[in-house]
Amino acid sequence: MLRNDWRGDVMHYGRREFVREVFDYKPGQHVTVLAPSGGGKTQLSYQLLKEAASPECPALVFVMKPRDETVTRFSKSARFRTVRQWPPSLRDRLKTKPPGWVVWPETTFDPDIDESRQKAVFRAAILDSYKRGDRILFGDETYSLENELPQGGLKKEVRTVHTKGRSMECGMWVASQRAAWISRWSYQAHHLFLGGDMDEDAQKRLGEIAAAVDKALVRRIVADLEEFEFLYINRNERTMCIVEP
Ligand SMILES: Nc1ncnc2c1ncn2[C@@H]1O[C@H](COP(=O)(O)OP(=O)(O)OP(=O)(O)O)[C@@H](O)[C@H]1O
Ligand SMILES: [Mg+2]
Repeated sequence: MLRNDWRGDVMHYGRREFVREVFDYKPGQHVTVLAPSGGGKTQLSYQLLKEAASPECPALVFVMKPRDETVTRFSKSARFRTVRQWPPSLRDRLKTKPPGWVVWPETTFDPDIDESRQKAVFRAAILDSYKRGDRILFGDETYSLENELPQGGLKKEVRTVHTKGRSMECGMWVASQRAAWISRWSYQAHHLFLGGDMDEDAQKRLGEIAAAVDKALVRRIVADLEEFEFLYINRNERTMCIVEP
């Protein structure tokens, strides 16, 4: 098989053009971004959030890492407001409404303390958003959100928004380094972004996830994508294209 033999058959869009003109996000739709560590998931997600979120339908970005330079840089340029708790303090709520909130609990570097706090804060934010609607929830590290927090993590809460959030116009956006050990509902998102992966098992798995379009072709594409390129799949329309870096 020739490398790149598929390139002529699939539409390519520059990042800016894709975000502004091709990505058509309706409130309540779900988004899933899968790519290995450092593959550009956070950057791509923020570029999409900047387009999709607004003060009327704000994004809530859940951050678990003690430090994340991509999050810091993009939160600033998107004018998202960082808060340590949910709901935000009265002072924060009284200021002009931002298009997004970065929900980033304080870190003490003691996992017992940090994980309990993260669970309480994120849980409150997810349930409040599900109830109110008109929100986008972004679990940037959904594996950790679902599995690494105390007492079963937030699996149930994430699943609830995946299965019932659309009617409340509460979209669940998730990113993960692997297509494994995360809610199976993630794979049924309206908008799916797959980054390149050198691992053959991962390629096979991504092909299966994308069976709605073309399993074999997707498998070939993800084996061959360049750094920071993504394959975009629109599940409802059964269409796909390449999003360039
Ligand atoms: N399209 C791009 N062009 C150039 N650099 C990029 C692009 N996307 C991401 N990067 C850079 O690559 C690095 C990793 O990006 P990012 O943090 O988005 O990856 P990630 O997949 O979220 O990583 P992790 O799995 O660790 O969360 C960052 O320094 C970022 O600025
Ligand atoms: Mg990231």
